Amino acid sequence: MTTLKTLADHLAAEQTADVAVKDVVAAIAKACIQISNVVASGAISGSLGAAGQVNVQDEEQKKLDIITNDILRDALKACPAVAGLASEELEEIETTGRAGGFLVTFDPLDGSSNIDVNVSVGTIFSILPAPEGREATEADFLLSGRQQVAAGYVVYGPQTMLVLTLSKGVFGFTMSAEGDWLLTHETVSINADTAEFAINMSNQRHWAEPVRRYIDDCLQGKDGPRGKNFNMRWVASMVADVHRILMRGGIFLYPWDAREPDKPGKLRLLYEANPMALIVERAGGKATDGKTAILDLQPTRLHQRVPVVLGSANEVDLVSA
Ligand code: AHG
Ligand code: MN
Ligand code: MN
Repeated sequence: MTTLKTLADHLAAEQTADVAVKDVVAAIAKACIQISNVVASGAISGSLGAAGQVNVQDEEQKKLDIITNDILRDALKACPAVAGLASEELEEIETTGRAGGFLVTFDPLDGSSNIDVNVSVGTIFSILPAPEGREATEADFLLSGRQQVAAGYVVYGPQTMLVLTLSKGVFGFTMSAEGDWLLTHETVSINADTAEFAINMSNQRHWAEPVRRYIDDCLQGKDGPRGKNFNMRWVASMVADVHRILMRGGIFLYPWDAREPDKPGKLRLLYEANPMALIVERAGGKATDGKTAILDLQPTRLHQRVPVVLGSANEVDLVSA
C-alpha cells in the first residue's frame, strides 16, 4: 500500500502568502475530528435531540448545534492567528482581542434535520483576512467571497472527509481510524455537464419562473427540450449535496421562493454560500444567486441569506441566463 500524505504534509507544501492561515486550517481540522467523534457517538453520549431553544435565525437548535459550535469556538479562540469569529449559532461576532491574522465564519453543524436520523451532516468554514492594528468589528466580516483566504467543509458520512481550498485547487482528506487526515482526493474537479439535480421539490409551487422552467425541462427528460433523462437527489445537508457534486457532477439549487418573500433564500451567505462557492469555482464549477456570481456579492449583514445555484458550469449557466 502506498503511503498517503497527511494534512500536515500538504499544508507544509502549500504556497500561501500568509503562512499563519495554515495554523487556522490545522486548528479547524483538529476540532472537526473531535466533532466527528461526538457526531458518531450519537445516542450513546446523549447528544441527539433538541436543545430546547432557538438561534438568531429563529431556528430550533439541536443539542449538537450547540456542542459543535462550542468545540469550534474554543479551538479558534485558542489559535493565535485568529482575531475573530462568527457562527450560525451565535447572534454576534466574537473577537479574541488580537489584531491582524484572520477572521473565521462557520456553520458548525450543517444539515441539523438529519442528525437524529443518522444521515450525513457537516461543518462549513470560511477564512477571511482580519484588519491590522485594531480589534475586528462586525463590519470587518462583511467581505465579498473573493476575499476569502481559504474555505472548506467536513462531511460526517460513511467516511469523514475534509475538503479544502487554500491558494488554489481543491483537495480531499479522509479521516483515518487513528484520527489523521490523509490526502485521498487531489485536485478535485466538477464535470461541466450533468444529468443530476438537487432541489427540495416540495417547494415547487413557491418557486420563481426561471427555476420552475429549468426543473420542468429536466423533468421532461428524453422527450423534452433537454433531450436526456435527469436523476434527482436531495440529502437536505448542503455539505453532503455539494460533496456529491464535487465527486460526480450535478447542480444544487436552494432558490428564492415565495414562502417568506422577504427572505432571499434559506442559505446564509457568509458561512454557507461563500465557502461552498469558492470550493465549487476552484473545482471548475460555478455558483450564482440565480444571476450574479455568489463570490461577487457584497455582504450587508452577518446572517444574510442568499439564493444558491451551484455545480456543473453548463447547468448553472442555463439557470442563471
Ligand atoms: P442548517 O442545518 O445549518 O440550518 O442548514 C440546513 C440547510 C442546508 O444544509 C440544506 O441544504 C437545507 O437547509 C435543507 O433545507 P430543507 O429542509 O428546506 O430541504
Ligand atoms: Mn447549514
Ligand atoms: Mn447549521
